[in-house]
Amino acid sequence: MSVRIEVAHDIEACRATVPIQEEVWSGDVVVPPQLLLAVTHNGGFVAVGHVDGDERPAGFVFGFLGIYDHHFRHHSHMLAVRAPHRHSGLAVALKEAQRDHCLDQGIDTIAWTMDPLEARNARFNFAKLGAFARTYGRDWYGAMPDKLNEGIPSDRLYVEWRIATDRADKRLRGADAIPTLDDAERDGIPWILAARGDRPAEEPSPPGGESHALVAIPMDFQAIKAQDLPTAVLWRDMVRQAFELAFAEGYAAVEFLRSSDGSRGAYMLVRQPQHPSPEETSEVMR
Ligand SMILES: CC(C)(COP(=O)(O)OP(=O)(O)OC[C@H]1O[C@@H](n2cnc3c(N)ncnc32)[C@H](O)[C@@H]1OP(=O)(O)O)[C@@H](O)C(=O)NCCC(=O)NCCS
Repeated sequence: MSVRIEVAHDIEACRATVPIQEEVWSGDVVVPPQLLLAVTHNGGFVAVGHVDGDERPAGFVFGFLGIYDHHFRHHSHMLAVRAPHRHSGLAVALKEAQRDHCLDQGIDTIAWTMDPLEARNARFNFAKLGAFARTYGRDWYGAMPDKLNEGIPSDRLYVEWRIATDRADKRLRGADAIPTLDDAERDGIPWILAARGDRPAEEPSPPGGESHALVAIPMDFQAIKAQDLPTAVLWRDMVRQAFELAFAEGYAAVEFLRSSDGSRGAYMLVRQPQHPSPEETSEVMR
């Protein structure tokens, strides 16, 4: 299957995102094409993806130029591929086009938010792109009416993608061997939160200074939400506690691992090197 990326410069291309937004999320929360156009003319980026044999646009990405922690970065607000064209390479091609746009601008980081309970997005962001996360937001967007988000607090991980790195290059080329969850378990990496079947096994436990730790999530959160809302809410609460515990102790989520049979998935977190604060440094110098 061959895919083609069209970088949006006019209102027609921006309008082409609307049916995709409606199909993937619902018509309740649509970013208007006029706003998309204004963003593309002011440093931001919109691209529409096409797949051979389908006249309708198959996916899109949208992001804007921002400032975070005193540095320019690109905030990627939306990425979507229509269901029939998932796993076609189009999502990666859209992110590559966005990355090229940012590298041309001299920007080295693209960031976005993601629902930590969406295993497919986790696999895409961490394994295929090589992004990482170290910040967690509770109910970030408040109550959301669309079909993916309704009925549950909109907690988000803040995902950062360093696009000028060897890691990003290798992941995009599929050149990095990513361990399986079975490997991680064999290595004795401890669980902050484990799963038993479709449910969290028990309350999260603190990572306790280990170099690596695991946080389980369900493989199909939308199905759990549709069939058993209390269990979905329990997952939200447990995963929130797990990430808050870990991030408070200086860990970052750097991978999303799957078991070799594809039935289980977990984030792998690593302890980040501690940098002395400026006050501590001046203490040492004195
Ligand atoms: C997010 C999205 C753009 C990714 O596109 P995609 O075509 O599904 O992505 P890919 O298939 O290239 O990558 C997804 C990876 O997750 C894997 N995957 C699929 N379902 C999975 C699941 N339930 N659990 C774990 N991994 C899963 C895929 O196998 C693939 O990994 P692999 O290539 O290593 O096997 C698309 O799924 C989408 O539009 N989702 C709805 C909208 C959305 O959530 N957007 C992002 C937030 S704005």
